[in-house]
This record gives sequence, C-alpha cells and structure tokens, in this order.
Amino acid sequence: MENTAEKKKIVLSAIQPTSVPTLGNYLGALKNWASMKDDYNCLYAVADLHSITISAFRDEPSLLRRNTQQLYAIMLALGLDPDENTLFVQSHVPAHSQLAWVLNCYTQFGEAARMTQFKEKSEKHADNVNVGLFAYPILMAADILLYQTDFVPIGADQKQHLEIARNIAVRFNSIYGDTFKLPEPFFGKAGTRVMSLQDPTKKMSKSDPNPKGCVYMLDEPDVIVKKIKSAVTDSEALVAHREGKDGVNNLMAIYSCCTGMSFEAIENEFAGRGYGDFKSAVAEAVVEELRSFRDNYKRISGDKAYICECAAKGAEKAAAMSARTLGKVMKKVGFMLP
Ligand code: TYM
Repeated sequence: MENTAEKKKIVLSAIQPTSVPTLGNYLGALKNWASMKDDYNCLYAVADLHSITISAFRDEPSLLRRNTQQLYAIMLALGLDPDENTLFVQSHVPAHSQLAWVLNCYTQFGEAARMTQFKEKSEKHADNVNVGLFAYPILMAADILLYQTDFVPIGADQKQHLEIARNIAVRFNSIYGDTFKLPEPFFGKAGTRVMSLQDPTKKMSKSDPNPKGCVYMLDEPDVIVKKIKSAVTDSEALVAHREGKDGVNNLMAIYSCCTGMSFEAIENEFAGRGYGDFKSAVAEAVVEELRSFRDNYKRISGDKAYICECAAKGAEKAAAMSARTLGKVMKKVGFMLP
C-alpha cells in the first residue's frame, strides 16, 4: 500500500476505554496504528461513547474518566505524535453523535440486528441489551465516514462493522450523490485475531473473566512471562502451524508479529525443541516488543496537564475536519441551515 499521492491518505481507527488494552488490541490494531503514523494522515480516537453500551461504568462514573485518560496516554506512549497525528476523545467531537443520528435513519433494523457482535454481546449481557448496543455499529460508521477515511486499521472482529459502514455509505451516496468515501479495512499479516492463552478457541478479550488468558499492555514483564509460559498448548510437543493446534498457532502468530518471522521460519527455529523453549522465546519477544511502549508510558502517564493539552488539540483538529462532511450531510438531507 504505497502512498505516492502528495496529499496523504486518511486513516482512522478507535479503541474503547473499557480496560487496559490487551496484547490482542495491540497486535491486531495498535501496532498497525503506529506503523502508519508517518505515511498517512492518521486520526485515532478513544471511543468513550461506545464504551457506555456496557454497564461497567454505571457504579463508578469516575472510572470512565480515568480509563479514558489512561488510554489517551497509551496512544501517546505508542509513539504517535499529537502534532502530526490527530489523537482525540470521541465525545469531545459532537459531530460523531450528530452524524450517527442521521445515519441511524439510513440503516435498516434488520441489517443492524444481523451484526454478530450485537448478538454475542446481547447474550453475554442479557440484563442490559440497550438500544446503544444495537446502534453501536452506526456510531462506528459515523466515526469513519466523517473524515472521508481511506483505511481503517482493525482486528478481524471489526470486519463486519466496517462492511455495514460501507453499506450505509453506498446507500446514502446513491440517494444524495457522492458524499462519503468508501473506506477499506487494513489488516496486519498476522495477529488479526489473537486468541485467549487459556482457551485458544476464544478471542483474547479485555472482558475475559480469567486474567491468565489475557496479556494486558501494562502488565509487568514477569507477569507477561508467567502468563505466556502457562498458555494452553497440546501434548504433541511440535511447533507447527496446523489445524487443530489452536494454542500453538496462537503463540506462533504472536511470535510472528513480534519478530517479523514467517511461520515456516518459526517451525525451523524450533524443530526438535520442546514447548518450554518456544514459550520462553515468545514471552521474551512480547516483553521486548512492548519495552519502549512501557518506558514511554511511565514517562507520560503522570503528566496530566500534557495529556489534557494534547487531547484538547486533537479535539480541535478533529472538529475542524469533521465539520466539512457533517455540513455537507445536513445540507443534502435538507435541514434548514443555522
Ligand atoms: P475495541 O476497543 O474492542 O478493540 C480495539 C481494536 O482491537 C482489535 N482487537 C483485536 N485484534 C486482534 N485480536 C484480538 N483478540 C482483538 N481484540 C480486539 C479490534 O478489532 C479493534 O480494532 N468497535 C471498535 C472501536 C471503534 C472503532 C471505530 C474502530 C469505534 N469506532 C471506528 C475503527 C473505526 C472496537 O471494537 O474496539
């Protein structure tokens, strides 16, 4: 994906502040965010509006604030540049909620009801199947379409949400003429679906009730090593990427992401060696991969004034960029302009 045009292509993505991001969030999305930061016009957001679709913050609203600030610091610690990139908090830019409302009216109930994540989350949180959870992908479509986004770096679990964003855009464009650019997903070579270390048939998730299944980006190195060494594998003692070897496949994908090695090269490196050696190497590679991030985070996270200053700057830039598309949409739909 060469970027030869003088004007840089636009990249947008976001992450929810539901907890400290996991190794899955990092390898599936954040690592790619960082790798695109110089060649594209990148907008990255803390999706705080999305995160209130679950009830985790209802007992403790200040947790949402703390998590949002922490996640913003994590974005900075990835090496993203608050001057070159646009790093913002979704709720600071009202255009997201405004466009989401308009797009709600151009989305059919049936297509939103088909979203796999909606079905999964409704089952998981049966006591709180709120309308926000249902409309979640439409707010995500607004996030993306507001900026005439070219590429959206995401993990595999968000593919369907990107497809509905494209469908909404096509529908709107077919009624009103060209308004939204059609965004493309951007996936890394490996790591698009990092699995739980304890149950490698399930996605590694921030909400995993078993903390051993999940490496968090702010885990200390000794904790990371322990979690990876206790990862579930199989009894074959063979490092090979094959069907049925979910645990080993997952560790190989993690190792491949951190070292850049192909699966074949990994198989050769560990031929005739046991899982003990392999797990130690994976753990070391993950610790090394996160080292500079961890150092940066330690430096930045205590400086609240700097974090707030960057967030304010990001919101201002995002508001200016999003106003163009929102204005166009309001005019085309026929709203009386103020
Ligand atoms: P969230 O916070 O759930 O996840 C953030 C990103 O991490 C990816 N991801 C994974 N990748 C690989 N393996 C895993 N186990 C794993 N778990 C999560 C997700 O695919 C995602 O890219 N709905 C979005 C947030 C959002 C958004 C947007 C994204 C809101 N607006 C606009 C892109 C564009 C989400 O699920 O975030």
